[in-house]
Order: sequence, then structure tokens, then C-alpha cells
Amino acid sequence: MFPDALLALDDYDLRSIHHWGWRDMARMAAVLPGESPLYALLHRLKGERVARRKEVVETLFVLDRIAPELARARTLCEVGAGHGQLGLLAAALARGGLAVTQLDRRQPDSFARIQELLTLERPSAKTAVRYHEKRVDRLDALPACDLAVGVHLCGALTDTFADLACAAGVPFAVVPCCESRALLPAGVDLPSGDPEPLVTAARLDRWRARGYAIEERIIPAEVTDRGRLFVCTPDPA
Ligand SMILES: C[S@@+](CC[C@H](N)C(=O)[O-])C[C@H]1O[C@@H](n2cnc3c(N)ncnc32)[C@H](O)[C@@H]1O
Repeated sequence: MFPDALLALDDYDLRSIHHWGWRDMARMAAVLPGESPLYALLHRLKGERVARRKEVVETLFVLDRIAPELARARTLCEVGAGHGQLGLLAAALARGGLAVTQLDRRQPDSFARIQELLTLERPSAKTAVRYHEKRVDRLDALPACDLAVGVHLCGALTDTFADLACAAGVPFAVVPCCESRALLPAGVDLPSGDPEPLVTAARLDRWRARGYAIEERIIPAEVTDRGRLFVCTPDPA
């Protein structure tokens, strides 16, 4: 798969979070056929200093890992969308076959620039994407969608997002981050080390109790140290 091949390249170094540059594009070119739609989209970002390398590569991994769910979706809701690369690239690649709603408490200036650049290649990056500045913890319900996604949802935002997705009964994919002891359910003995395993175990129990089947798909440690992606699907039974 493409993003995994990227990591196999000699000297590919994600520790730096420098802006996307020519050297990155040269590395991409080695693993992506020049005529591929994704290459063309990434080429638009080249040298524009609007997207950070680590975030773009992470986005490529998430899109790759949720490709089966995305292929079935016609409407996507992305929570905590930040700069918006994930929803924008998904909409652009789907050529109008996917309507994307992005939510974040604040839309960074970079969103409009990334959208403008991707739209040069694929108009659906503009026509199929709506970005709303909204606090997710103040929503009564998620916008209607058939797939919900949240990447690096800090702390309790993962739980707020998952509760909304479960209430709507929609499949969701989430990469949690920033797990703290405060997220542990009452009655759990506080661990001395990283609370992430216990926080995650409690979450997975909760989501299963709400009728979801959960599959974990990993984003490699070279890309991020918070690379646990959970794809959660309502159990038809
Ligand atoms: C760590 S960033 C992740 C951004 C993006 N998903 C990514 O992976 O690059 C978390 C995002 O959640 C947003 N956020 C935090 N709390 C929020 C809330 N209560 N409602 C909506 N967005 C929130 C922040 O503004 C930020 O853009």
C-alpha cells in the first residue's frame, strides 16, 4: 500500500515537522505513479507552506486504513477537523461521490488555502465540503452522515465524539490521543504509568456495550506515537 511504501524509502524522516517541500514530493514520486489522482493532489500542495509533512502523511495513512468504509460512504462527518486535510482529500479523491461536513471549534486560516489548492485539481474539494465552527461538546447530535471520523481527538473529545456517533448509530473511526487518568471510570485503580491502556480498554468496553464491533488498525510508530485507529461498526445483530 502506498503510505507504507513511503516509510520503506531510505532516509524518510518524519521526526521533523517542516512544511511540505520539493524533497518530499520527490520521495512521493518514487512510490506514487505520476498519473495517480493522489499524486496530482499532493503536487498542488508542493512548496506552498500550508501543510505540515507529518500531518499530511498521517492523513494518507488514515485514508488508507479506512478505505473500505470510505468507499461505502456517501456522507462523511469529520470532527475536530483542524486544518481539514483529511476531509478535503477524501472529498477530492471521491470526485463528488462523497459529501463532507467538517466540525471544529475554530477553523484555522490554513483550511481555506489548502482547500483552494486542492480545488485547482478537483472542484469537489470545494463543492462537496462544508466546514462549520462548532463546539462538539455543545452539539445535541452529529450532522447526518453514514461515516464519522475523528483523528487525534484530545482527551474527552474522543468520548464526546463516540457518544454522538453511537447515539446516531453510525459507523465511526477514531484516533484518540492525550489520555489522562481523569478519563478513567470511577472505581478503576489509578495506574502509576501511562494510563492509555486502561483508558482505551474502558472505552472499547463502552462502545461494545453499545452494540459496536471494533477493529483496531495501526498507523506505524514512525508516523505518530498515537497511532491506534479504532474502526467501530454497529453490530447488525
Ligand atoms: C489535535 S487537533 C487534531 C486536528 C486534526 N484532526 C488532525 O489530526 O490534524 C484537535 C482538534 O480538535 C479541535 N477541538 C478541540 N476541542 C473541540 C471541541 N470541543 N469542539 C470542536 N473541536 C474541538 C481543536 O480545535 C483541534 O483542531
